[in-house]
Amino acid sequence: MSERLAAKVIVITGAGSGIGAHTAATCAQAGAAVICADIDPEAAERTASAIADSGAKSAAVQVDVSDEAAANAMATAALEAFGKIDGLFANAGITGEGSAASLSLADWNRVIAVNLTGVFLSCRAVLPSMVDAGAGAIVATSSIGGLVGVPNIAAYAAAKGGVTGLVRQMAVDYAPDGVRVNAICPGTIPTPLVVSAYEQRNFIAGDVDDAFARAASRFPLGRVGTLDDAALLTLFLLSEESGWITGQSLAVDGGVSTAGWQVGQ
Ligand code: NAI
Repeated sequence: MSERLAAKVIVITGAGSGIGAHTAATCAQAGAAVICADIDPEAAERTASAIADSGAKSAAVQVDVSDEAAANAMATAALEAFGKIDGLFANAGITGEGSAASLSLADWNRVIAVNLTGVFLSCRAVLPSMVDAGAGAIVATSSIGGLVGVPNIAAYAAAKGGVTGLVRQMAVDYAPDGVRVNAICPGTIPTPLVVSAYEQRNFIAGDVDDAFARAASRFPLGRVGTLDDAALLTLFLLSEESGWITGQSLAVDGGVSTAGWQVGQ
């Protein structure tokens, strides 16, 4: 894996935990300098320090991706630290339980602000330097909830569906500038975000591992996802190996969006 992102500079939001933290480490192993951005500064610093300890280049930045000035400052910090931005993984997100009738406007607004506007602001912050360079790769984190109906996540599904639309649209706008834009759509991957969603759904009867074992029965491939499943697809989409792929929202979900959400239930 060592040369796949050699000399590349990659900004990752939500890098303090879960998919973002693991993808940050994966990109660093592949040769990239990684800007680890997160709303939780200590978590961002933990990921960046672990990368630095492994001998790769990294920097930590605190950002609330829903804040325009903070998103712009994140890009500025990356440019000051490493002189360019080759890739963005716009991955920060929060869970969002509730049907359309049960959601408060405040909850709707926060989920849209982080999961959709946050992707827009992060992309907008890095695009000028990519356009100037005539090259760049952006990957956003959508969800299977952005592709198919999943019960009781109205705001989350609207935001993630918005991400798949935004990715398609930006891919067309920025292809002439050499910038590719894609999304990953993960199925269930055990992270703090999913544990929080499961708690809100009362899906954890006892041990959290039992809940994920029950969830595994929904997936045609018979298991939930791993952090590697998401990170390795993202690495591919950030690298030049995917140089003729743009505008795509790719499911990494054990086949569940193909077969239907109720598989195994
Ligand atoms: P996680 O909770 O482990 O990590 C999310 C990170 O984003 C945390 O470090 C958190 O501090 C950060 N964050 C939250 N709000 C932020 C903000 N306003 N600005 C900057 N950082 C912020 O969750 P996970 O699972 O790694 O989620 C990453 C992405 O993957 C999210 O967009 C989520 O919606 C998406 N996703 C996750 C799935 C899963 O099964 N884990 C499935 C489908 C999508």
